[in-house]
Amino acid sequence: MSGIKPEPGWYKDAIIYEVHVKSFLDSNRDGWGDFPGLTAKLDYLQKLGITTLWLLPFTDSPLKDDGYDIRDYYKVYPSYGTMEEFQVFLSEAHKRGLRVITELVMNHTSNTHPWFVSASSSRSSPFRDYYVWSDTPDRYKGTRIIFSDTEKSNWTWEPKTRQYYWHRFFHSQPDLNFDNPKVQDELLTVVKFWFSLGVDGLRCDAVPYLFEREGTNCENLPETHTFIKRLRAEIDREFPDRMLLAEANQWPQDVLPYFGEGDGDEFHMAYHFPLMPRLFIAIAQGDRKPITDILQQTPAIPANCQWAIFLRNHDELTLEMVTDQERDYLWTTYAEDPRMRLNLGIRRRLAPLMGNDRRKIDLMHSLLLTLPGTPILYYGDEIGMGDNVHLGDRNGVRTPMQWSFDRNGGFSTADPSDLYAPPIQNPVYGYQVVNVETQIRYPTSPLNVLRQMIEVRQSSHVFGRGAMTVLHPKNRHVFACLREMGDEVVMVINNLSDRTESVLLDLSRFRGYTPVELFSQTPFPVLERAHFHFTVSPYGYFWLALRPPAFSVRRRKRTGR
Ligand code: BGC
Repeated sequence: MSGIKPEPGWYKDAIIYEVHVKSFLDSNRDGWGDFPGLTAKLDYLQKLGITTLWLLPFTDSPLKDDGYDIRDYYKVYPSYGTMEEFQVFLSEAHKRGLRVITELVMNHTSNTHPWFVSASSSRSSPFRDYYVWSDTPDRYKGTRIIFSDTEKSNWTWEPKTRQYYWHRFFHSQPDLNFDNPKVQDELLTVVKFWFSLGVDGLRCDAVPYLFEREGTNCENLPETHTFIKRLRAEIDREFPDRMLLAEANQWPQDVLPYFGEGDGDEFHMAYHFPLMPRLFIAIAQGDRKPITDILQQTPAIPANCQWAIFLRNHDELTLEMVTDQERDYLWTTYAEDPRMRLNLGIRRRLAPLMGNDRRKIDLMHSLLLTLPGTPILYYGDEIGMGDNVHLGDRNGVRTPMQWSFDRNGGFSTADPSDLYAPPIQNPVYGYQVVNVETQIRYPTSPLNVLRQMIEVRQSSHVFGRGAMTVLHPKNRHVFACLREMGDEVVMVINNLSDRTESVLLDLSRFRGYTPVELFSQTPFPVLERAHFHFTVSPYGYFWLALRPPAFSVRRRKRTGR
């Protein structure tokens, strides 16, 4: 029996948890996480309060890009389990009311995909035109290289058929040719296959790069929008209530068209990439300006659409959507060791980025859970896991989940040498100290505080759906805003600095209202004057419901915080 009811706009009230099947729990002692393992941990996720899981790629692949190089769109990678085990996982998630988002990698396949194997074996292959070929590497010169640390060109020579093929990522990931209607149809078939199985949403990878046109930067082309509109129309017809999330690492005004502008007829959701690094600048500088600036530059989106916001994910903390100056600042502040840098980004997890300062980690979660959009948490960050710069590429932030202080952090009972990657083992972040079992046992652990924040957020639609008004007190160390929906008003105050700050807020609109602290339900003094003075501890935060005079303030038993 499914606990999922059709619910228009469900993604607006979601809390998404990003997880790698490989990294969560190994049920068969082969050293790799798998679907039965993930299924066994659904109760943990349900208790955390998340509503939706986003799974990293899990279909068959040579894993040159951790599964984003797909060899077979229809087969589960054997170490992760079988299709039946995926289906059991999906139905167990649904039983608990948890939705599931999987990956749709459309832009490219692996070079071991049978389409490319055939296409690269002969110019007359029926699949030749599934990919983008050229006699010279000089076409589309205006296109940037994304994996700049490893790739020198977006073209790679294919010796057998003596032409170059186009790729925006690793050369082992040839780009599909979306000008070929057969490619479009193939991908629509993939989409329908996964939606027919019952997945609730697809995270559409690398969307801006589907088409190529001379004289452009080959990003965000009109042809891409035409295709996405077609995809959306077919989904709406056959699979209402499903969600499409765009990965478009672009400025907000360039992401806007991916929502379909006025019509809302493309993606339901898109990541807000530029917000993320600015949260890290703001907390490092103790200044709200980077946040208020980017919010100001963020256009309104259609009513049925939603931003997806995040602090960290499986990739490097990308610094593409910042100025050169901001990037230098972030690199010097957060990646003093050159091994922490990758491409245009920083390959570290949240806790180490915050110097393992609990106050800063909690404050970042306070921002994530109260800014407009749907928050995405990255597995392991709920317990403050660390990273490992010695592992190549982005693998240092994809290490095994730390469940307990047992062997391999409780992730697997295999021999440690058989694990897909070593768990974190150091005195600060090692599984002996940072693990779920320990954190469940005391109420102020990172896990329990985050769980409580999630519970409060989920007690109202105001955070996922409400309007936001930024307040502009003189004290720039404080970022404060109002979230409002109907009669409900929540004021959030975040102190970005390492000192106690006092802040005077203009609350003339709310004279006579009572602020009620949402974690403890403690009423503050009634707002009697136009301006109200708050004192906030270093990196402290308040979430305050502003209750009108008639509202009876019910004082609940104090909770852990
Ligand atoms: C994913 C990366 C991946 C790339 C190529 C990105 O957007 O997040 O992990 O390497 O797409 O598929």
